[in-house]
Amino acid sequence: METPDWHTGRSFLKQTHLQEPSPSTGTETGNPKVCGTCEPSQVLIALPQVSDIPMDPMLLSDIMEMRRTVREYSDEPLMKWELSLMLHYTQGVSETGGAPHLRNAPSAGALHPFETYIVVNRVEGLEPGIYRYLPLDHALVKETCHVGGGEAVAAACRRPNIILRAAVAFLWIAVPDRILWKFGSRGWRYLFIESGHVCQNLYLIATALGCGTCAIGSYRDDEMNCALGLDGEEQFCIYLAAVGKRKD
Ligand SMILES: Cc1cc2nc3c(=O)[nH]c(=O)nc-3n(C[C@H](O)[C@H](O)[C@H](O)COP(=O)(O)O)c2cc1C
Repeated sequence: METPDWHTGRSFLKQTHLQEPSPSTGTETGNPKVCGTCEPSQVLIALPQVSDIPMDPMLLSDIMEMRRTVREYSDEPLMKWELSLMLHYTQGVSETGGAPHLRNAPSAGALHPFETYIVVNRVEGLEPGIYRYLPLDHALVKETCHVGGGEAVAAACRRPNIILRAAVAFLWIAVPDRILWKFGSRGWRYLFIESGHVCQNLYLIATALGCGTCAIGSYRDDEMNCALGLDGEEQFCIYLAAVGKRKD
């Protein structure tokens, strides 16, 4: 067990105290960094539209009671429509009317400072590999610039087998610039808080679909960022979760 380092925590809290007046330097409509886009050469892989997916009604209170961390999964693949629901309820756009767009998880200033990557091991109709989710298109693009693919992602985790045995792993990539321009240093807190909201949504929708989820916070940051081709500063992996069909 590591000795707790109080200094780092105290200094983080102190340096992220609320500043008055707000350090905001831009306008929300003028902020260009709300959502990642793909290269023109990348092929969009459309996901099933959520409105076309019939779901058995379940009580939210029952789903919340049933939610548990699951680390062992069956060999059964996930269906693409199940993945579609998981992406939609974690980072999907639910209201496009105004600016900014609203999504299925809350975000300070609706700035949504994450990109979602997925490691696909077993999803019907998708080759294994690493993909990035495009919320506005509700589509995936295959990412090829990663060093070592899903295996390198798993190797960066303290318990690689959870990722290796999952049908799919979700990786939330923080893009601090998207939130710091508005909230200044306070925005650092929001990054970590918001990733929890997103992961909880995954737990809930996965439970409703008969799947198990395991949130993962114990990974070697540098190794993980390197595996994903991220610089670790402008973009870094903030949280992960593995998902698969339950064995029982
Ligand atoms: C921030 C956070 C990080 C976690 N990291 C890991 C992890 O790295 N590996 C793991 O096996 N479980 C991880 N978990 C899952 C917890 O161990 C689990 O939530 C806890 O044992 C309680 O079980 P429950 O989720 O079934 O209620 C994490 C959970 C949270 C909220």
